[in-house]
Amino acid sequence: MGSTPNFASAPGTPPAAAARGVGVSFGGLRALDAIDIEVTPGAIVGIIGPNGAGKTTLFDCLSGFLPCEGRVWVAGKDVTGLPPHGRAAAGLGRSFQDARLFHTMTVLDTLRVASELHLKGAGVLPSLLSLPSSRAAERRATETALELIDLLGLGGFRDKLIRELSTGTRRIVDLGCVLAQDPSVVLLDEPSSGIAQRETEALGPLLRRLRDRTGCAMLLIEHDMPLLMGLAERVYALEAGKQIAEGTPEEVVNHPEVIRSYLGADASAINRSDAEPAAEAEPPRARPRPQAKPTARKPAPRTAVPRKAAPRKPAPRKPAAVDTTGARAKPASARGPRKPKE
Ligand SMILES: Nc1ncnc2c1ncn2[C@@H]1O[C@H](COP(=O)(O)OP(=O)(O)OP(=O)(O)O)[C@@H](O)[C@H]1O
Ligand SMILES: [Mg+2]
Repeated sequence: MGSTPNFASAPGTPPAAAARGVGVSFGGLRALDAIDIEVTPGAIVGIIGPNGAGKTTLFDCLSGFLPCEGRVWVAGKDVTGLPPHGRAAAGLGRSFQDARLFHTMTVLDTLRVASELHLKGAGVLPSLLSLPSSRAAERRATETALELIDLLGLGGFRDKLIRELSTGTRRIVDLGCVLAQDPSVVLLDEPSSGIAQRETEALGPLLRRLRDRTGCAMLLIEHDMPLLMGLAERVYALEAGKQIAEGTPEEVVNHPEVIRSYLGADASAINRSDAEPAAEAEPPRARPRPQAKPTARKPAPRTAVPRKAAPRKPAPRKPAAVDTTGARAKPASARGPRKPKE
């Protein structure tokens, strides 16, 4: 397998996830080329890029769903040759662009089953024989599920069926199923896609709280720039399978290649912001979001580039909470056509 490279993480602390030289081709299409990624323990790291940049393909490679070139480590363990379940056992959790849950199960049961899968002593045989190990595992699974419900702010949905939930709330339950596996890093593919505006606004504080409470690192693909800017410590930008920028969110949104390939029409806003002293910059999360929804294949990301402080008060925000209405205000198509996959 070769030697372990020098990671940027503190000496003696392996990154929660790392990859070197990841590449994959689909026929003649070079979907990913020589991608290097590193997620330090407990960090929230963003991935941005236009549609088709290779973001989801990168997640497929990291999580072992797609054979690829390069090497992948999870919590310091070289998982390059391991299948998805081996990588999950090493500590890598993944949520998908579309949450796939059983619609006729309750939230509690869904999280209980997810928790039980992770526990020793659970399983068909111990359960059929009603062994003490099975009953103890069931009790622990229920406890874990209830803790997750509390952590995720899902108390009001505990006994609701999955089909009764909004897309955003379903996605939170899906995230709970991933967290039930006690991962050291979670890959989140566009958690805000297709969910209501206020669910998106609740997502940032929720993800940060999850990270703070569990210590779990997050690698986050996101087109919603205010969300990402408010969360991520580092960002990688991809375009056409290539890594075109890496750095702090501010460095990346001001990177000329990122402006050219992704932020597009918002480049003028970025350039304008360059003239403003940093101290005058309005905090990303307090800024109104552009109303226009992208319709073309290339998304117009909702930008959070610094502009001069507006002399108005920001609108009061509700505390972070999962949408309780089941509303689906923002269709997935709002960011342009997407291919079904995964
Ligand atoms: N299984 C596949 N077979 C062939 N081509 C694929 C496959 N999966 C992805 N691709 C192609 O690889 C490229 C990268 O796709 P990918 O889904 O990773 O992009 P993305 O950055 O996630 O885009 P989006 O923002 O739309 O989700 C695209 O050109 C896509 O059409
Ligand atoms: Mg994708």
